[in-house]
Amino acid sequence: MNAFLNGTFLPLADAKVSALDRGFVFGDGVYEVVPVYSKKPFRLDAHLSRLQASLDAIRLANPYGIAQWREWVLKLIALQDFPDQSLYVQVTRGAPAPGQPLRDHAFPATPSPTVFMFAQPLVVATSRQKAAGACAITVADDRWLRCDIKAISLLANVLLRQRAIDAGCAEAVMLRDGFLTEGAASNIFLVRDGVLVAPPRSNLMLAGITYDVVLELAAAHAIPHEVRAIPEAEVRAADELWMTSSTREIMAIVKLDGVPVGAGVPGPLAQRMDALYQTFKQQVMRA
Ligand code: PDD
Repeated sequence: MNAFLNGTFLPLADAKVSALDRGFVFGDGVYEVVPVYSKKPFRLDAHLSRLQASLDAIRLANPYGIAQWREWVLKLIALQDFPDQSLYVQVTRGAPAPGQPLRDHAFPATPSPTVFMFAQPLVVATSRQKAAGACAITVADDRWLRCDIKAISLLANVLLRQRAIDAGCAEAVMLRDGFLTEGAASNIFLVRDGVLVAPPRSNLMLAGITYDVVLELAAAHAIPHEVRAIPEAEVRAADELWMTSSTREIMAIVKLDGVPVGAGVPGPLAQRMDALYQTFKQQVMRA
């Protein structure tokens, strides 16, 4: 399995970074996860521009221009021997230069970022898993107030997702001050009376690339939809609840805190949106 580290392609097992890397010591870095179908990246430019936004937010200069990123991402994809991939991209503020303090919260005077990428097989849900749907629990969103940054410091998300796993579920649906934010590693949509509803982009959630695709497809296919704040009561009264992400695509949540969502099976709009998403994906991949 091939990886990329600071301009070099190498076997993943040979990719080594300093133990003083600020990604390791402080969680000081940002990342992306890009889905790849039949060796073609899906919405790569959107992922690269979100990476740029994350880098801007943490005040770290992008080590590469867009053309260079594209070239290296495509090369890494081509080097793998499996067609459907989940491509991980990480940029950290790197290790301190010789002579600098070994650990110092303050930015190094001249940061030397670490860029690391690897791909693993993308395992999308089977039709049986889609038909069964997933279960979720609600949790208090106790993360910081810059959830719009795709930061590698994911401790809160990890702890919340693990609570869902411990409860035998797939995802934790987060509520902050009585309103829906997102999932531990996904965005959340709901359907009520045939209307698709999503929370608005803000500093309290990550604007998912899949979230954008779903809203674009809803607009293109005249599916009634609203983007607005969603109170907890609406989450609990939803006819349908979905989680969306690059790796999970559109997955219906059929049980929330042990209570069936709507009819307790994936709803008609989830099925329709999944079909639209699959068709859209095929079109993009053929182009
Ligand atoms: N996570 N919100 C959070 C907190 C996420 O971690 C993710 C994705 C999303 C959905 O974003 P997108 O549609 O761009 O994948 C929303 C990735 C997949 C991960 O951390 O593995």
